[in-house]
Amino acid sequence: MKLIFATANQHKAEEVRALLGRAFTLLTPNDLGYTEDIPETGNTLEDNALEKARFIWKKFGLPCFSDDTGFEVEALNGAPGVFSARYAGEARDPKANMQLVLREMEGKTLRTARFRCVVALIMEGKETCFEGMVNGSILTAPQGEQGFGYDPVFRPDGYDCSFAELDLEEKNKISHRGQAISKLVDFLRQYEQPHL
Ligand code: IMP
Repeated sequence: MKLIFATANQHKAEEVRALLGRAFTLLTPNDLGYTEDIPETGNTLEDNALEKARFIWKKFGLPCFSDDTGFEVEALNGAPGVFSARYAGEARDPKANMQLVLREMEGKTLRTARFRCVVALIMEGKETCFEGMVNGSILTAPQGEQGFGYDPVFRPDGYDCSFAELDLEEKNKISHRGQAISKLVDFLRQYEQPHL
């Protein structure tokens, strides 16, 4: 089944491709020749995920989904949250975002944080959302080279390394997006049955 993942982030597309398995052909807007920004103007992860999926559904009329992730830091009252991508400014610089969070966390002992991800699917015009979450804490300095975004400063509960020190497969097993996507995959099974 062809599915469009409404993202321009190739890193994320790779993560999700690994999770979806061979029953699905994952396309990105870029694969279909669309290279402009996808609007994202909501105030919640749910709003943003739905906005992106609706935009792509209108454009291509193919089954599609999008995800929106927030990095929620308890001592910062849930920030950066829905503003995670542009926390340090409109340049959307992941390193600057991470450094800003580290600066704001300097001297703070409460270091709990979580990633929360909402996936919005539009299939035959019907909208469904799935959520995934991973709890952990913020390190005091970046660690590791893999992954992207805030990965180097996030240590998931039960691990003694950062997300950026886990390989893709291991991160996918426990990550916010991994959980939301596996709910999506379970849901999509019903559409696969007639073709088995
Ligand atoms: P988006 O909504 O998935 O585009 O993510 C918003 C922001 O959260 C971006 O700045 C990403 O860098 C960051 N982000 C999303 N997913 C992850 C992740 O798995 N690890 C680290 N940062 C992430």
